[in-house]
Amino acid sequence: MPHHRIGVLASGRGSNLQAIMDSCSGGTIPGQVAVVISDNPGAYALQRAKDANIPAFCVDPSGFNTKEDYEEKISNLLKEYGVQLVCLAGYMRLVGPVMLKEFANRIINIHPALLPAFPGLHAQEQAWNYGVKYSGCTVHFVDEGMDTGPIILQSVVPVMQDDTPASLAERILEQEHIIYPEAVRLFLEGRLRIKGRKVEIL
Ligand code: GRF
Repeated sequence: MPHHRIGVLASGRGSNLQAIMDSCSGGTIPGQVAVVISDNPGAYALQRAKDANIPAFCVDPSGFNTKEDYEEKISNLLKEYGVQLVCLAGYMRLVGPVMLKEFANRIINIHPALLPAFPGLHAQEQAWNYGVKYSGCTVHFVDEGMDTGPIILQSVVPVMQDDTPASLAERILEQEHIIYPEAVRLFLEGRLRIKGRKVEIL
């Protein structure tokens, strides 16, 4: 099995990054995280990468005149590190045309709700406020929309009567750490085929 190279973009705590790194080192993902990039200098994700001896960079968007320039910089870094798959893991920005073109159908994201329900920010709180009985998480390909790309995997969790947004988020996060590495594995094994809105698992 060829050894693939993954790039991870993360803005915060990086627990999904950690799950992906652990699955790589444990051998369930046939690849390695080659580079981690953050838009936030304080992101704990950067520390996790350093602790694992993985190259980690903060690219501050305010240092660029346009979003295109910022994304050129990120794309170049990802290419420099020979990345085949880009994983967004709590990356708090919409991906624009520059990256989408450079990495067409090679960018995936995890979202803490059952899309297309509750896209955007604070998805767990949105679900809790709405009163749904089940929520969950979704791994999907990234397109130009906000959490709108073809769905790869989903996992469902129940919403309990005594849940708070935080306890629900915790239950969902456990599932995120299972399905995100699983989706990365399927991608790298060449087992995902996009057919319009549908993703076939081979
Ligand atoms: C996760 O809930 C993920 O679904 C969402 O942002 C959060 C990131 O958490 N996109 P972490 O930084 O991976 O711990």
